[in-house]
Amino acid sequence: MVMPLKTIAVLTAGGDAPGMNAAIRAVVRSALSCGLNVTGVRRGYRGLYEKDFFSMNSRHVSGIINLGGTILKSVRFPEFQKREFRQQAAENVRQASIDALVVIGGDGTARGALAFHQDSQIPVAVVPASIDNDLGGTELTIGFDTAVNTAVEAVDRIRDTATSHDRTFIIEVMGRHCGNLALEVGLACGAEIIIIPEQPLNYEKLFQEITTADQQGKESVLIILAEGAAKAPEMAQIISRQFPRKEIRYAILGYIQRGGRPTYATRVLATKLGVAAIQTLMKGNTCHLIGWQNGQTVAVPLQAALASRVKLQTGNLDLTRLLSI
Ligand code: F6P
Repeated sequence: MVMPLKTIAVLTAGGDAPGMNAAIRAVVRSALSCGLNVTGVRRGYRGLYEKDFFSMNSRHVSGIINLGGTILKSVRFPEFQKREFRQQAAENVRQASIDALVVIGGDGTARGALAFHQDSQIPVAVVPASIDNDLGGTELTIGFDTAVNTAVEAVDRIRDTATSHDRTFIIEVMGRHCGNLALEVGLACGAEIIIIPEQPLNYEKLFQEITTADQQGKESVLIILAEGAAKAPEMAQIISRQFPRKEIRYAILGYIQRGGRPTYATRVLATKLGVAAIQTLMKGNTCHLIGWQNGQTVAVPLQAALASRVKLQTGNLDLTRLLSI
């Protein structure tokens, strides 16, 4: 028998991503439209553990659809990997008469939600939000499109200097474990070389690619490096030693990729996934990831989503090679 929901809670956890606010707004307003009470949890799983709860109404989410960051705030809370912390959090949730949680975040957050549900049986719906696009069960995460656009704009600016000064530029983008951001940015910026953490870094091959670019008459080279594959300053030194006559420079884009106004695509995705999260819980589903597949929202069992492979756009490497002649 499906227990009717009366109160849901919403939180954001892990690294922030543009569009989290649009997702919060969609969750809160669609829940209120269904006659549910909404509890906001501040600072993710830490707030759940410390019972940092407040009652939310429609006005709490006014004027936030266009804002980066998260009005609910976020922290990384590794303690949540320990059962005793999750048990205290579950106790707090029960005491506050919360019937289900909507959890907005990335891979680590989704794993926390699964463990929390498995311990407590409290229903959860995960809304994927991360600039890394590193979750199974969805083709896109909230924030990815915005981060790609931010990085593309930055790389375009750097290209001006690279071209004017005949320089080789290494541009480090985020992506500790996943190269999707680097793959999209590299292709969109017409980079010569993209380096991702999923493939072993081979300096001999890299030197060869730079030499080939030289032989093709290229006076400047753009290398897009995902942070998890190597560190830009070290790579710049190694390339400089191999090519002492070349001017090698690097730029680390860092946190500018995580902030800022969400693009239209990010806002629409966040809105649709947020509404679908409430619909999924209302149907009595207890542990799902709300994904985006083939142009529509889908509810994927969370365990299966986390066990499935992240879709990596490795085809972009072939296209980059094909076109950088
Ligand atoms: O949100 C994911 C991510 O951007 C990674 O690409 C990056 O390595 C990490 O977060 C850094 O986050 P923080 O410094 O906030 O822990």
